[in-house]
Amino acid sequence: MSDILTSSPRSPAVPVVPLKPLGKVVAVTSGKGGVGKTFVSANLAASLAKRGQKILVLDADLGLANLDVVLNLYPKITLHDVFTGKAKLEEAIVRAPGGFSVLLAGSGMVEYSRLTPNVREDFLHIISSLLPLYDIVLLDTGAGISDVVLFAVSLASEVIVVATPEPTSLTDAYATIKVLVGEQQRRVIRMVINQTNRMGDGRAITTQLQQVLDRFVVSKPGEKVRLVHMGDIPSDLSVRQAIMKRQLLIQSMPGCPAALALAQLAAKLQESLITQPR
Ligand SMILES: Nc1ncnc2c1ncn2[C@@H]1O[C@H](COP(=O)(O)OP(=O)(O)OP(=O)(O)O)[C@@H](O)[C@H]1O
Ligand SMILES: [Mg+2]
Repeated sequence: MSDILTSSPRSPAVPVVPLKPLGKVVAVTSGKGGVGKTFVSANLAASLAKRGQKILVLDADLGLANLDVVLNLYPKITLHDVFTGKAKLEEAIVRAPGGFSVLLAGSGMVEYSRLTPNVREDFLHIISSLLPLYDIVLLDTGAGISDVVLFAVSLASEVIVVATPEPTSLTDAYATIKVLVGEQQRRVIRMVINQTNRMGDGRAITTQLQQVLDRFVVSKPGEKVRLVHMGDIPSDLSVRQAIMKRQLLIQSMPGCPAALALAQLAAKLQESLITQPR
């Protein structure tokens, strides 16, 4: 492992505010909670790992972390110990069943759900230390537009907004996108529509959201905001079954419709990250 990983997580040399989003960091976020971010992050990571990518998923939902539950992993050392200086970063990195690495927040992170300068500094330091070691770092963020969520998203070069076809999820997704455009000058936002009931639902929803954005969200002239439809994941009973068994869907039921959709999503994300100039 690199020296950076073994150094103290509170190096005074670390800038408090990131100057620009970090390449290869992909944030998975949403307006409304419970839409499937953690499920998507974990299974997307496993699908990307299957494609030969070296992936780390960071549980960036500090206050209400639950990636550990989905992956059935309960490590003794977590991000909390790194933040409090009790452990080194490398000791908190765990191998997940899907062939990727995870950095779990663990319990006791509630104090980090408020964005203090220390939280910003620790977060930034941790992510920039991990970056050289992985092809992609996925951030499983919390929902909404709290300071901590927006800060985690601000570190990412790519943002995936997960939404379901429910009107409440779509209005919250729209509100989040508006903030990401206004505060982070995002011009490309990737959309994953989860729990769809019909083929083509997600593309139609993305087109509708794009039309509303075009009408009401003013960006600088010539700088249009573009929603990129990355894919739909159908509503699938197997998802609940896999979560109840605390298994990855793409491992326990690789042939089910949601798992196939996740494999397609991984292929599209990998392709767009490779072709996109940094
Ligand atoms: N494609 C799907 N088909 C059926 N059920 C699904 C699907 N995706 C997610 N779910 C259900 O939604 C639940 C919530 O998913 P998940 O915990 O990933 O959401 P989340 O967005 O991470 O929530 P939070 O905002 O609390 O972090 C899952 O436990 C599962 O039961
Ligand atoms: Mg979650």
